[in-house]
Amino acid sequence: MAVVFITGANRGIGLALTWGFADRGDTVLAAVRAPDKAPDLKRMAAMPDKHIEILTLDVTDAASIAALKATLGQRPIDILVNNAGVIGPEHQTLADMDYDGWLTTLEVNTLGPFRVLQALLDNLKAAGNAYVMTITSRMASFASSRGSDRLAYRASKAATNKVMQSVASDLAAMNIAVAVAHPGWVQTGIGGRNADISAEQSAAGLIHVIDRMSIIHSPRFVNYDGSSIAW
Ligand SMILES: NC(=O)c1ccc[n+]([C@@H]2O[C@H](COP(=O)([O-])OP(=O)(O)OC[C@H]3O[C@@H](n4cnc5c(N)ncnc54)[C@H](OP(=O)(O)O)[C@@H]3O)[C@@H](O)[C@H]2O)c1
Repeated sequence: MAVVFITGANRGIGLALTWGFADRGDTVLAAVRAPDKAPDLKRMAAMPDKHIEILTLDVTDAASIAALKATLGQRPIDILVNNAGVIGPEHQTLADMDYDGWLTTLEVNTLGPFRVLQALLDNLKAAGNAYVMTITSRMASFASSRGSDRLAYRASKAATNKVMQSVASDLAAMNIAVAVAHPGWVQTGIGGRNADISAEQSAAGLIHVIDRMSIIHSPRFVNYDGSSIAW
């Protein structure tokens, strides 16, 4: 059984991933900003046959990451899912840009996954073979010029794709495979109610994709249904 570390595990896709992995017997280290405000996750973690440990983590906060690292010590982690993310400020178009909001978006969506990866590197190495999936978005693909909205969000996710693509060869030397993934258009805080699929459908697809990750196909930009997305 794998040990899986998931950021933003209190709601949306992160919560569904937590349930999906825990339900098949994996141990989930469920990282959330505010454990006191995670009632659904707490209910899952209280189930005697599920192995879910709730950890505190704000991915933008270096002190929070250092504290997490101290808590984990050398514990092996097989799978890291960088899921935490924000959609960014209300105003992020050519006509109207909220620059502070853009910076915050980069802090969460781009620096956050990198900080977490760096902090957990020894734990991933200790697992022998490990897998890192970062949830980005199809909206970050350079192969499509569709859409001029959500510029801060698109830029933050495109930068994350580039960072994860760039570290893939270093990570391959440590037996760590990398993917960035589009989770679908999902009914969550970010996707809204009218989105195509539920968080559970997205999580089931993403888990299936993670189960098939390999160093040979690292790095990969992949959809939740397993199909490739052009970078
Ligand atoms: N839903 C979609 O259609 C869609 C499409 C493409 C990509 N995505 C990506 O999928 C991922 C999950 O999003 P979602 O749809 O499940 O949205 P969501 O329901 O809004 O959940 C976002 C999660 O990220 C956490 N988070 C935000 N800032 C954080 C920080 N600084 N430190 C730690 N955790 C933080 C939130 O925690 P709090 O509860 O504490 O705020 C929450 O758990 C994101 O990376 C998003 O960009 C979603």
